[in-house]
Amino acid sequence: MDTIVKKNKRTRIADLLKSDKTNYTVTVKGWVRTFRANRFIALTDGSTSTTLQVVVDFEKMDAELLKRVTTGAAIGVTGEVVESQGAGQKIELVATDLEIYGDSDPSKYPLQPKKHSLEFLREIAHLRFRTTTFNAVFRIRHALAFAIHKFFNDRGFVYMHTPIITGSDAEGAGEMFHVTNLDLNKIPKTEEGKIDYKKDFFEKETNLTVSGQLEAELGAMGFGEVYTFGPTFRAENSNTSRHLAEFWMIEPEIAFADLDDDMDLAEDMLKYVIKYAMEHCEEEIKFLDARLTKEDSQKPKDQRSPMSLIEKLKFSVENDFERITYTEAIDILRNSKPNKKKKFSYIIEDWGADLQSEHERFLVEKHFKKPVILTDYPKDIKAFYMRMNDDNKTVRAMDILFPGIGEIVGGSQREERLDVLEKRMEEMDIPKDEMFWYLDTRRFGTCPHAGFGLGFERLIMFVTGMTNIRDVIPFPRTPGNAEF
Ligand code: 4AD
Ligand code: MG
Repeated sequence: MDTIVKKNKRTRIADLLKSDKTNYTVTVKGWVRTFRANRFIALTDGSTSTTLQVVVDFEKMDAELLKRVTTGAAIGVTGEVVESQGAGQKIELVATDLEIYGDSDPSKYPLQPKKHSLEFLREIAHLRFRTTTFNAVFRIRHALAFAIHKFFNDRGFVYMHTPIITGSDAEGAGEMFHVTNLDLNKIPKTEEGKIDYKKDFFEKETNLTVSGQLEAELGAMGFGEVYTFGPTFRAENSNTSRHLAEFWMIEPEIAFADLDDDMDLAEDMLKYVIKYAMEHCEEEIKFLDARLTKEDSQKPKDQRSPMSLIEKLKFSVENDFERITYTEAIDILRNSKPNKKKKFSYIIEDWGADLQSEHERFLVEKHFKKPVILTDYPKDIKAFYMRMNDDNKTVRAMDILFPGIGEIVGGSQREERLDVLEKRMEEMDIPKDEMFWYLDTRRFGTCPHAGFGLGFERLIMFVTGMTNIRDVIPFPRTPGNAEF
């Protein structure tokens, strides 16, 4: 046992590069990025996006062994840390001993030491963790997840695990994946010819959750402040760069709170987690910033982004989000150039229209040029649980819109008045009997409360500057694709 531990002792490249110290012996283990001139190995172990330069003296090493040092091979190197002769790094490792753990046939290995397109890398998502870009993206994903827990924990929120299998459709949109263990070739039927769910595993119809909100509301009525952070599933057939069938959502729910409290919480949280990533993933963000700047420089001038990634992140944490009502937004959009010149695919004519992402992006990117919170939407385009305003036309809803992303957060003050809620459910055909548990919160000790849902992948898109949501989750699930 002891010997195994000793044998595996290795120094992480991230730790090694932190120090300028030289003239000592270390062992590093990692994967070969490139091997140049039979002399210089660029080695990565995933602990940092920077590679370590390993120098080998081919005259002192077994030639057969060196032939096996190819891109992608896993190796271990023991050697002396010395001051680097080359530019771009302070130290390098002069190898005295080299061991191959796993060969990688260069004629078959799909990741070559050159720039691959993101589309190609998506097809080999099982290998893309080994690239610098995805190393940065998924390290930032990790940091953001950690920051979210830290933000809520520091404020006394209780992290609540809401069920993944549920009988309810929280959003009432009917875009659900069914959960069953019935034999699909022999579906049992009732006398009326309907599916007999009594014979199914749960003895009722069930689906994968689209949101943990309704259960989070139950938690908030006991703890005061809770949040969820888990996977959610939507069978919406929208093949866009911003939709996934399986995505992660953060849903805080706060008691004795109105929509203003809710918006303050959401704005504080977003600024906190973006700042956290900027402080803890400086190297990764710098790398992605440079990558985007390079990509941008190849575009026509009028399509280039007015701000770099780092400028955009700074801007969003340093400025207040613009807060306006849906009605004000409709006025702005109706009078906007692209609406008048019929440049929008959906022309805004009447109050009540649902906003498309082109409208959201106009408001954020062209009109206000900063994050925007839209409030008080028409009741007909929002969910049943949102609190009715006195005008009986709008509900106390809010969406936060971000540049380059569109909607990143959706939330509302909840309808806490039993009679108003029941009326709304009847109007919208939501089965009241089955939702007795939800209505019980309004029957016993109801109180004003509010919450929101943050799409985790949309947040990661914003912080990394990645433009396709498939590139910020390790294994994306989209219509027609559930590979890996
Ligand atoms: O606006 P949504 O549908 O709101 C809810 O689900 C509420 N129950 C939240 C609440 O009040 N607790 O979804 C919330 C957020 C969106 O703003 C968006 O960022 C993200 O979830 N989202 C998606 N992200 C990726 N792929 C999809 N298909 C998404 N649908 C929503
Ligand atoms: Mg929404």
